[in-house]
Formats: sequence, C-alpha cells, structure tokens
Amino acid sequence: MTFKKNILCIGGGYVGGSTMAMIAHKCPHYKVTVVDINPTRIAEWNSNNLPIYEPGLDKIVISTRGKNLFFTTDIERGIKEAEIIFVSVNTPVKTFGAGAGMAADLQYWEKTARQILECSESSKIIVEKSTFPVRTAFAMERILSLNENNIHFDVLSNPEFLAEGTAIKDLEYPDRVLIGSRETPSGVKARNELIEIYANWVPKDRIITSNIWSSELSKLVANAFLAQRISSINSFTAFCEKSEADINEVARAIGMDSRLGDKFLNPSIGWGGSCFKKDIFNLVYLCRHYGLDEVANYWEAVVNINEYQKERFVRTMLSAMFNTLAGKKICLFGFAFKANTGDTRESPAIFIATKLIDERAELVITDPKALNNARIDLNGINGTVSYSEDPYEAADGCDAIAVVTEWEVYKDLDFKKIFQSMVKPAFIFDGRNILNHKQLFDIGFNVFPIGKPALTHF
Ligand code: NAD
Ligand code: UDX
Repeated sequence: MTFKKNILCIGGGYVGGSTMAMIAHKCPHYKVTVVDINPTRIAEWNSNNLPIYEPGLDKIVISTRGKNLFFTTDIERGIKEAEIIFVSVNTPVKTFGAGAGMAADLQYWEKTARQILECSESSKIIVEKSTFPVRTAFAMERILSLNENNIHFDVLSNPEFLAEGTAIKDLEYPDRVLIGSRETPSGVKARNELIEIYANWVPKDRIITSNIWSSELSKLVANAFLAQRISSINSFTAFCEKSEADINEVARAIGMDSRLGDKFLNPSIGWGGSCFKKDIFNLVYLCRHYGLDEVANYWEAVVNINEYQKERFVRTMLSAMFNTLAGKKICLFGFAFKANTGDTRESPAIFIATKLIDERAELVITDPKALNNARIDLNGINGTVSYSEDPYEAADGCDAIAVVTEWEVYKDLDFKKIFQSMVKPAFIFDGRNILNHKQLFDIGFNVFPIGKPALTHF
C-alpha cells in the first residue's frame, strides 16, 4: 500500500503513543511510525501488554498496528523516510547545574534535533509536541539550520492538552488544537499541512493558529491555570476545617457562577502528575530569567500550597490517631496520581507513603492499576510496605484507611465488612471526598474528610 504521507514520532511515551495511535486511527491514508530509544517500551507497544494503561487505547492500537501504525527502535530509518516529524520526548526538570530543580532539562530534545539533522536527506516539518520552554523552537531552528545539504526544516509548535485517564476522549474530541508557526510562506505551508492532518476528524473552528512563542507559552499557562485552580480550592479546605464550612458546598456554590464554571474544583490531597509541577517551575524559571520576580513568586505559590496540602493531610492523620503512628498499620486506597491511570509520576501518594513510613507506620497499598509503579517508587524505602490488589485484603487488620486516588471502585465497597476486619478505633481519611461520610460514621468509623468537619466517636 502506498501512503499519502509518512509521519514519524520520536518518543513513544504517554503522549507520543496515544497521539500517534489517534492519528493512525483517523487517517488510514497516512503511515505513522513511533520510534523510541527504549527497546522495552517499543516491544511492549508491539505486544498485547501496552506500556501504559489508558481507557480505550488498546482498542485503537490493535486495530491500526501493522496496518498504518508501526513501533520501532530504528530511529535513523524513521527520520530518513518521514516528511513530518513529531518530537514527543520527555522534558523533565533539570537535576544538575544551573536551574537545577526548576528549569527544563533539554538534553533529550537537543539530542533529537541533532539526530534529525544527521539523518535527514530531504526537507521536513518538525513539530514540537512535547512541552518546551518558550523559544525552544528558535533553538531547534538554529540547530537544524546547521545542515550543509540545502535541506529546509520548518519548526511548528503543537502542544498537547490531553489529560491522562481521558486521553482517548481528549484526542478524539479536543477542545482545541493549537498550532504555532512562523508567518513566512514556508511556515504557513507547513502549518497548513499539519492542519490537514487534524482536519480529518477535528472541526476546523477548533484548530487554532498563533505565532510559535504564543503557542509554546499557552501550554505552560494552561497547566499553570489548571493547577492554580486546584491549589485555590485546596487552600480553602484548610479554611473550612477551621470554620466548620463545607468545601463541597462552597465548590458547588461558586461553580454555578457561569464566569467561574464547575470544573477542577474537586478538593484533594494535592495535585500530582508529570506535568503541573515541572511546567510551573519551568514558567517560574523563565520569569526569573526575564527579571519578572513578582510574577515568578505568584506562580511559585501555587506549588507551595500544593506541598502544604500534602503535608497537612499527613499532619491530620497523625493528630487524629493520638499523635503516634508507630507500629500502626495504614492502608492506602490508591497510589496513582489520579483515577483511570497506572501512572504514579509526582503522585501525592509517594509523599504520603514516605511521611507515614518516617512516622514508623506499616503500609499496605492497594490500587487497581498502579501497583507495579508503586513498587518501583517505594523500592528501598526504610520500612514495612506490602501490596494487594484486593482492597478488602489490604484493609484487613489495619488501623486506618487513607483514600489517595479517586477510583470509582472504592465508592461501592462493603465498608461494614471492612470495618469488622480492622483494628478499633478504625479511621478513614478521605483525601478525595468520594465516600459517604455519614454512612461510614454510622458503621463505626472515625471519618476525616477534606475541608469538612470530622465525624468522630470520641
Ligand atoms: P514519557 O516519559 O512517557 O515518554 C517520553 C519518551 O521519549 C520515553 O519513552 C523516552 O524513552 C523517549 N525518548 C527520550 N529521548 C529520546 C530520544 N532521543 N529518541 C527517541 N526517544 C526518546 O513522557 P510523556 O508523558 O509522553 O511526555 C512527553 C512530553 O509531552 C513532555 O514534554 C510532557 O510534558 C508533555 N505532555 C505530557 C502529557 C501527559 O499527560 N503525560 C500531556 C501533555 C503534554
Ligand atoms: C494535566 C492537564 O489537565 C492536561 O491538559 C495536560 O495536557 C497535562 O497535565 P493530567 O496531569 O494528566 O493532565 O491530569 P489532570 O486531570 O489535570 O489532574 C492533575 C492532578 O490534579 C491529579 O492529581 C488530579 O487528581 C488532581 N485534581 C484534578 C484535583 O485534585 N482536583 C480536581 O478538581 C482536578
């Protein structure tokens, strides 16, 4: 079969794998190849056990793989054959040198840019799909212009807004697709080629364009606003616990104001995930670089409130359980950073587990999809941790349960049975406010929600 175009994606992670599967699914006339330096990841993409859990992803991968979707480690060949290359490598926070702990570590994309330069035999469109600092495209253009073969590269910014757990829905029905380009004739031509791909399934009015720098910045700003909203509601959980107001009642009341809207107002133990913290730090670093200290401090506070929220949760547990957790058995319901994913990157569960172990508690962790990652995250921790897929088995003999992830399955458990199997007095700390607190109290639990008065029997 001859394909209309060869598309390559460098980096087969959460974003590269899912977005390319969607493009292959919606565009059978394009050949889509995903390459990665990690051979295990590629082998998993080619197996029945995909490297990531994402509802609906397996179905579209299975229906396109081997037809117009291919996973391989042959990066050189992939680059040679492609007309359009998406770059979707990871952009973690730098752990060394200038900007350590704040700035984005750009070694992965720079290696990628140099490899594209080395292997290319024809002109190509390069699409920044990863989240990069503002003006990365400029550096990418500079590196790619070093070629001596008269090859032309157009660099576009096309940030990805999918959220894990809903990636397939987000990709199929995106709120918008953003494409940043130069306004030169060749920049506009490249932009139109990318629009043509998305137009196979995304309504034209949802495909928006801007200059490259606005596009790069929009991605950081979107994540900063989303995280800020959660930090805002979480900051008021602390207030509610002091004043006997109820955070869910407050969230409902403000969410009905159409100017505010009702999304992203779920109180929690704090936000996690691989994006929010690194992207805000990236923004803060850029602000300081431009001498905008007040702006940097404003956004840094969003992260500080999140750290405070995680610490506050553990402090509440400690003080409720008579100021000692030593030798007590505590069960964590959930370890993933949110429901419907097995991803635990920056999950608040890691912080909570570590602090509870510091207090010499014994931990039992249960999660429907994230136990493998939990084992890796807690590998070598100095304490007793066990794992069970079955929440009943996990809670058996425990003094307390802490709900860390909002999995649906936890709402429908038989809590009478669980209560009977636990040490008394039994505690539940609902870090997501997903359980029926009055019912739990009536069963006999001492219940500590987030941002609501506790229900206790003493
Ligand atoms: P990931 O770590 O899951 O995947 C990145 C992949 O790139 C890895 O498999 C890695 O082996 C591969 N890689 C690194 N260097 C390479 C190279 N030189 N050649 C080939 N492969 C290479 O990361 P992710 O979650 O997919 O995120 C990728 C980017 O997308 C990041 O910039 C992230 O901020 C952004 N993003 C992520 C999400 C999300 O929900 N995870 C959403 C939107 C945007
Ligand atoms: C986020 C952005 O939503 C997405 O647009 C971007 O592309 C990548 O970063 P993700 O991190 O996958 O996506 O999940 P998201 O749904 O945003 O949740 C992030 C964290 O916030 C999770 O820990 C979640 O539990 C928490 N959260 C979310 C809350 O605590 N309360 C809420 O109301 C919503």
